[in-house]
Amino acid sequence: MQEKVIILDFGSQTTQLIARRLRELSVYCEIVPYNKFPHDDPSVIGVILSGSPFSVYDEKAFRTDLSRIRGRLPILGICYGAQFIAYTNGGSVEPAGTREYGRAHLEHLDASNPLLRGLKPGSQVWMSHGDTITTLPDNFRIIASTDKVAVAAYQIEGEPVWGVQFHPEVYHSVDGTQILRNFVVDICGSRQDWNAASFIDTTVAALREQLGDDKVVLGLSGGVDSSVAAVLLNRAIGSNLTCIFVDHGMLRKDEFRDVLNDYKCLGLNVIGVDASQKFFSELAGVTEPERKRKIIGKGFIDVFDEEAHKIKDVKWLAQGTIYPDCIESLSITGTTIKSHHNVGGLPEKMNLRLCEPLRLLFKDEVRAVGRELGMPDHLIKRHPFPGPGLAVRILGDITPEKVRVLQEADHIFIQGLRDWDLYDKVWQAGVILLPVKSVGVMGDERTYESAVALRAVTSTDAMTADWAHLPYEFLAKVSNDIINKVKGVNRVAYDISSKPPATIEWE
Ligand code: XMP
Repeated sequence: MQEKVIILDFGSQTTQLIARRLRELSVYCEIVPYNKFPHDDPSVIGVILSGSPFSVYDEKAFRTDLSRIRGRLPILGICYGAQFIAYTNGGSVEPAGTREYGRAHLEHLDASNPLLRGLKPGSQVWMSHGDTITTLPDNFRIIASTDKVAVAAYQIEGEPVWGVQFHPEVYHSVDGTQILRNFVVDICGSRQDWNAASFIDTTVAALREQLGDDKVVLGLSGGVDSSVAAVLLNRAIGSNLTCIFVDHGMLRKDEFRDVLNDYKCLGLNVIGVDASQKFFSELAGVTEPERKRKIIGKGFIDVFDEEAHKIKDVKWLAQGTIYPDCIESLSITGTTIKSHHNVGGLPEKMNLRLCEPLRLLFKDEVRAVGRELGMPDHLIKRHPFPGPGLAVRILGDITPEKVRVLQEADHIFIQGLRDWDLYDKVWQAGVILLPVKSVGVMGDERTYESAVALRAVTSTDAMTADWAHLPYEFLAKVSNDIINKVKGVNRVAYDISSKPPATIEWE
């Protein structure tokens, strides 16, 4: 049985980070809403209470009953979680006067306490709170303070229950990982056996159990997530999985052919559908970005649905949904942190049961699983690419000729990044075809042709991104190559905007 730590989510923006840190310690964990603790699950070894945008004394504050957990499992409350435990046991929590945000240092810490073992006085932690615990219940003992916060950490005497006012999951808490390790390994007794290989073993077994002899369809995009999901399912159910790869005509140069080839080499049962004509005619004359997205989304669903219906007795639709895609469904406060752009609507249309074997993994974990499954590096390390493809990188209306121009320019840029060993150093890169013409001179000729923009960003999750500081020599070479080799382009610009306030894509 896969042991797990449960993170009760009270709505903090850093809840996901707690999960990340634990996974980095090879400890499996799941985030569940604050009031959905799985009481009947015998594999739970410990519980963490997250922070929250609320104050514990707010009427709307999220509350949960810990009585069935306390005494049975170790508990660690973080920020609101710590305040909640103190408050519901008779302590007091009050507004701090000024909101404390940023670095602080732990003084007077009790390094003999199992939670703080290995820490030295002065250890830097990250604070982000508007409330503070002003009095603790009698049986609570302070185990660390800062100069501003008396109760920076506490333990209930004789009980495996701790609270910390700071955020150990944030990198700026220098010993944060040590504290989390102390909790999950020393206190909860985790075996730290969560890794890609164990994930594959348990997931393949679970998929066989769940799917039996049922037939499954999966939409491949050429991207990492759907590809890894396909290979994993293929290992579990073999030829009962049929994959469909739709070419909407807006893929990169030779991508349809190359990726299809890769999939066949991996032993996948894959149908490639060239629907580019349909998309080109539906998109003709359309300039509005959201409209383009809608047309492609709907067209994709129609093509996929038609192909899937040619396969007999399909019962399941598999998708490569990953953990960050689920933020919205996990979001309990109603604030959408990121609305994901993936082409939605398929499950609703198809009336099939949904199978999402990667839904609890982060991107780098998906890559580790792919590697463990023996997938080639060039598939695993591929940059993210938008579902509507080059359609959102051609500003204005789309024609097959514009797609050709962009494919050529994009190919030079991406191949250049590979040749210069820069591809793996950026999160994502591509070229944008601008709806402007500018004057140039080539030989003795005056030219009046299109301008393109190069875009390359560094990021960890696409929610924020910085423009990649690529070497000037490299940019000069790419610019030269594009202007000399791509007919129709006579000017190249480099996009130096970060996200926010810009976004990664231009449309
Ligand atoms: P933005 O442009 O919002 O993009 O900074 C964030 C990430 O999402 C990708 N993206 C899309 N992916 N369908 C997708 O599947 C879309 O419509 C779409 N728009 C943007 C983008 O490439 C980046 O990785």
